[in-house]
Amino acid sequence: MGDQTPPGVYDDLRLPAPKDPARPYVLVNMVSSVNGVASVGGKAAGIGKSADRKAMRGLRSVVDAVMVGAGTLRAERMRLGLDDPSLPQPLAVILCGPEPPTIGERLIRDPAQRVLLAFPKEASGAYEHPTKGIDLMPTPSLPDGRVDLRAALRKLRTDHGVARLLVEGGPKTNGALLAQGLVDELFVTISPLLLPTTGGHIVDVGAGASRELRLHSTKTSGDEIFLRYTVPGGQPGP
Ligand SMILES: NC(=O)c1ccc[n+]([C@@H]2O[C@H](COP(=O)([O-])OP(=O)(O)OC[C@H]3O[C@@H](n4cnc5c(N)ncnc54)[C@H](OP(=O)(O)O)[C@@H]3O)[C@@H](O)[C@H]2O)c1
Repeated sequence: MGDQTPPGVYDDLRLPAPKDPARPYVLVNMVSSVNGVASVGGKAAGIGKSADRKAMRGLRSVVDAVMVGAGTLRAERMRLGLDDPSLPQPLAVILCGPEPPTIGERLIRDPAQRVLLAFPKEASGAYEHPTKGIDLMPTPSLPDGRVDLRAALRKLRTDHGVARLLVEGGPKTNGALLAQGLVDELFVTISPLLLPTTGGHIVDVGAGASRELRLHSTKTSGDEIFLRYTVPGGQPGP
């Protein structure tokens, strides 16, 4: 009998060639309940169903690196790679603040997966004790002390060969990237749930300006809806 599992909605995904030599082509992927909630009890695990997990791995398979903010790593025990150890693993990038995050048990990783911490270079002293298998990317910071995301993306492109980057949250990281025009596409899975509204949203827009997105595709699998948007102002999309 053949494999009965349905194909992933993004198994056939094609991404445009990155046009901007100063940064990767950037995708953001998030899952939300129908009422727009992106975490329950501070965690996102369990909001997406099996089709969402498969879609997420489809996206990871077409990028060079997968990035999350330190807040997400603090909240979740997670994997940023592919399940099949025979496939090349994307670089795992953690966007950090002045205090190094605890990677240990939080990040489940294939031994072949490289991990890179992007942190404000002024905080280099706090990062001086190397952890085996984890590389460091000291990055210029903004006046508020956070990593300058434009500089981080430039370093990922030029120093680490990242031409396509998938960002998997959290909302603060997504909001900061979007505010600076550094996101090209937004993928949103709508899971068939109504969740307590104590959780956050997929993008922390804060008091920032409203944005209009362009719908590129909708797909469904079971009760989940998969939305793919291009972000006007980003690199030329599909
Ligand atoms: N539904 C989903 O698909 C999904 C996906 C991912 C996460 N989540 C949820 O999102 C929540 C965590 O997200 P979050 O928004 O609190 O945190 P986050 O975006 O994951 O991480 C933000 C942290 O990144 C570091 N950082 C460094 N430079 C930055 C910059 N320029 N801009 C923004 N951050 C910078 C800071 O770390 P320091 O704090 O160390 O200074 C900052 O607090 C969790 O509840 C998680 O479950 C949901």
